[in-house]
Amino acid sequence: MTDLVSCIDVGHRFGSRRELFGGVDLTIGRHDSVAITGPSGVGKSTLLSFIGGIASPDLGVVRHSQPARKGEERLSSIAWVLQTGNVLGNRSVLSNIALPAVLAGQARGVAASRAEAVASQLGIDSLLNNRARTLSGGELQRVSIARSLASSPDLILADEPTGQLDTTTSETVVEALLGASSPHRPAVVVVTHDLRVAQACERHYELTSTGLQQW
Ligand SMILES: Nc1ncnc2c1ncn2[C@@H]1O[C@H](COP(=O)(O)OP(=O)(O)O)[C@@H](O)[C@H]1O
Ligand SMILES: [Mg+2]
Repeated sequence: MTDLVSCIDVGHRFGSRRELFGGVDLTIGRHDSVAITGPSGVGKSTLLSFIGGIASPDLGVVRHSQPARKGEERLSSIAWVLQTGNVLGNRSVLSNIALPAVLAGQARGVAASRAEAVASQLGIDSLLNNRARTLSGGELQRVSIARSLASSPDLILADEPTGQLDTTTSETVVEALLGASSPHRPAVVVVTHDLRVAQACERHYELTSTGLQQW
């Protein structure tokens, strides 16, 4: 299978509550960029957790591509940008950005150079030696995005990545996430309320209770 992820007729409910959504069909290929919008509470973050394989839906099937290389973990090539942020406060910004690549076995020097390059692209290079806990919400959001890019994943899953950013910074983030030229550009699925972010993606869907409607 060449697609990274396919969702076929996916639906879900939590416990005995009414069905959150049903009938979701979505295929994500290499280098695709896909935006998902929709009202608060419709299930966007839940759907993203299914796409990333960290949770399973009640209905339908989610298929992930097989490892690109022998011995590689299926999910090692997915990077997350989470709404809550997931930085280590006592570590430097540089360490936070480089960490996933180092944990994946990359040499520290190589990981640090790559971290510096993406930090510069996102305008946070002056913060590289600061502890993450001293940063503002918007700066932390950019650290989280820099980290996802620095690990050179096949797929980035981003939940409201520009929620705390001003318009100019948001444009910088979109350029960093979507602007790399193939074959290096990861596929990106972004949940967003920002129509400019959605319009920058190749495909834009609205999540409703009955499935994804393409714009
Ligand atoms: N683990 C859970 N258990 C029960 N209900 C949940 C759980 N996670 C999310 N929900 C509920 O499911 C609905 C959709 O949540 P979510 O996917 O976070 O929506 P969105 O990201 O579109 O705002 C919300 O009403 C939320 O309260
Ligand atoms: Mg959400």
